[in-house]
Amino acid sequence: MYEFKITAEDKAELYRQLVQAADALTAGEPDAIANMANVAALLWDNLPELNWAGFYRNVGGELVLGPFQGRAACIRIPFGKGVCGAAAATLEPQCVDDVHAFPGHIACDSASASELVVPILAEGRLIAVLDLDSPRQSRFDAEDVAGCVRLAQLLGERLGSVAKAPLES
Ligand code: SME
Repeated sequence: MYEFKITAEDKAELYRQLVQAADALTAGEPDAIANMANVAALLWDNLPELNWAGFYRNVGGELVLGPFQGRAACIRIPFGKGVCGAAAATLEPQCVDDVHAFPGHIACDSASASELVVPILAEGRLIAVLDLDSPRQSRFDAEDVAGCVRLAQLLGERLGSVAKAPLES
């Protein structure tokens, strides 16, 4: 059993502890799906005001649903479509205060009001995106972006070493 005591007083400390926990959870485990599943659960458990937390994988140039927590979601997202597709196409984090104002936003859960999507790269190549949704507008700020970018860097190293096999079918 994994029990992480995450008791942060501010966001910077919260993300420091989350990166540490994600590091411990994924160290030595080569299965990318297992690692994404555990990190999705970790974020879901410890980040407040989320209604979805998980991953879309780059499978042959298309985003395909990966491990997540929250409501059942759309399975395939083309690059360039919606918030996830924008992150995949630009390789830049997308922090959206109001998803209803985002052109092409894909509504998987009508409760979603704001969204943060961060690309996960291994050796410059997109392997997945981390997607967080919140029912509160403007839930995510620059500290969330910075924290999730750090998580994505760790996951790029962890998932990248096995990306060629399990992530692409
Ligand atoms: N809203 C996303 C789709 C994925 S769900 O939020 C889980 C988008 O516009 O890409």
